[in-house]
Amino acid sequence: MIKILTIETTCDETAAAVITDSLEVLGSVVASQDKLHQKFGGVVPEIASRAHLENIVPVIDETISRAKIQLADLNAIAVATTPGLAGSLLVGLSAAKTLCVALKKPLIAVNHLQAHIYACKIAFREDPFPCVGLIISGGHSNLYCCATPLDFTPLGGTIDDAAGEAFDKVAAMLGLPYPGGPSIQKAAEKGNPKAYKFPRSLLEEPERLAFSFSGLKTAVRYRLVGQGKTTNPATIAAELSEQEIADIAASFQEAVVDCLVGKSIQALRTTGMRTLCVGGGVAANSCFRRKMENAAQKEPIRLFIAPAALCTDNAVMGAIALERFHAGLFETLDLDVSPGLVR
Ligand code: KG4
Ligand code: ZN
Repeated sequence: MIKILTIETTCDETAAAVITDSLEVLGSVVASQDKLHQKFGGVVPEIASRAHLENIVPVIDETISRAKIQLADLNAIAVATTPGLAGSLLVGLSAAKTLCVALKKPLIAVNHLQAHIYACKIAFREDPFPCVGLIISGGHSNLYCCATPLDFTPLGGTIDDAAGEAFDKVAAMLGLPYPGGPSIQKAAEKGNPKAYKFPRSLLEEPERLAFSFSGLKTAVRYRLVGQGKTTNPATIAAELSEQEIADIAASFQEAVVDCLVGKSIQALRTTGMRTLCVGGGVAANSCFRRKMENAAQKEPIRLFIAPAALCTDNAVMGAIALERFHAGLFETLDLDVSPGLVR
């Protein structure tokens, strides 16, 4: 039985997992830094890398102990090297290289975005490839044609903010805590999604597989402070009733979700593919999941959205490294991180 240790430190979660070649998860640990970044309303890169440094060894130790194996039992070490925050990525890569040298094991590089899609294969224990992949996270909103787990072709992406970034920024405007996605989802539960007609950019252009959320973000800002004013939106939001906040949150969430669902369907129609795999933190959103499932039934298409815990950053999705292991795609010790570059 092949066993791989996967390490994930691309942003603000320090995570590790041990996965077998039959896709069994022997151990998985995620140490979240949400509380450290909350008072800043977003991830502070310097704080993130320092926290990874503190967490990485205990997280790996705990993962190995939960997996009930010895480090020497591992067949390879895999680590996410792109994309992400440079300082965060370097902590994971240094840990992985150290283990490879000490244990004399091969090193495997993981593309974090591709791993988000692969999470669906682990969750459903079914092969979703070939498929259209939708990645909706804090830093990315991308559509891919995924021929195989090792062959992803970009179809399009956001031209400004990522979906998760829009959730985080609008939450900050509404005075809701970071991370914004879960806060907005919670506030929206009691809100009317039709209270405000916020824009759904590019939805009327089916041939353009792209997202744009900056107009929507500005529309929320105008609703709060009015056009051309410099007042801090959170100051205005603090004076609104809970119901008014809930209505804005629900209307904003519905607009983002309509764009994500609409563009996914357009991508499936354009490519002629019949399967959609969704990954990334925003895929945990309950409104998105409901509306995407309805749209998938109408089409009809096969839809894979991993459970929420496998949508947000984790190391289990690093199981995509097994595909590279079987293909003999190993790295040398001069492997570097690629913060912005998706290989
Ligand atoms: O994939 P992820 O954990 O980290 C990145 O690779 O960026 O995604 C984090 C993003 C954050 O912007 C967060 O607000 C968003 O995912 N998110 C959600 C929900 N849970 C997390 N957005 C909407 N609804 C949620 N329930
Ligand atoms: Zn991610």
